[in-house]
Amino acid sequence: MEFKSLISSGKLSKVIPVSKINEIANQIEKFLLDQQESQRISQKYYLVKDKLDRITYISNIEEIINISNLNNYFDGMLSEIVRYPDKFFLATSEMHIRWPYCEEIPPHQDNFYHCFQDINSFKILIPISKYELPNAFLNYAKIEVFQKTLNHTASSTPAFSSYIPKDIISNLNLKWINYKFSLGDILWHSINSIHYAKQNLSKNKSVFLVFRFDHVDSKIDENSLKEYNKVFEKHKTLTNLSL
Ligand SMILES: [Fe+2]
Repeated sequence: MEFKSLISSGKLSKVIPVSKINEIANQIEKFLLDQQESQRISQKYYLVKDKLDRITYISNIEEIINISNLNNYFDGMLSEIVRYPDKFFLATSEMHIRWPYCEEIPPHQDNFYHCFQDINSFKILIPISKYELPNAFLNYAKIEVFQKTLNHTASSTPAFSSYIPKDIISNLNLKWINYKFSLGDILWHSINSIHYAKQNLSKNKSVFLVFRFDHVDSKIDENSLKEYNKVFEKHKTLTNLSL
């Protein structure tokens, strides 16, 4: 097993200086005010807006924040999470913004979306805004890293194409963890972690960056990919998406 812990999620404290987080927060605020720039980014990457025309998700943030600033800190984080950090590389960098009263993030496992044969990939979530209330960020099921990828069905939530239906979730009798954090802490989860968030009921938006790390030997499972593509087509119909 690649992971150091048996539980599929965790928190690492004080891994990024707060000044660095504030620097990133400023870059994001500047970006959010620049309509021309968001228009440009939306032509290159998958950018989701809510009904009030506010950005909620961007599939690639490399042109918005200076990721190389974070590289120094990733090495330390990786060595806390996996046994052989050198075998992992940064695959994707995304941003989520959860505005007050935003849509729920339905319960899901990332690997249903990514379709890897083995559960080696993981995600590092870097909060850019303060912890206020549990549903501003994510709730994680207390499950082992060996948890298999469950069946998902198409969702109508933009940026979250599929979810685990209620009956499957309730049969699992899950216990949930909500990690309280300070700025500079990070959360991580393996790609088979089950997580969700209800509406953000805090007064402020919550902003977090998500970095996926893949193992050099990771391979796609073709059957899972076929299944995912079917669900994604349905999701496109449900959300009027034209990708
Ligand atoms: Fe997820």
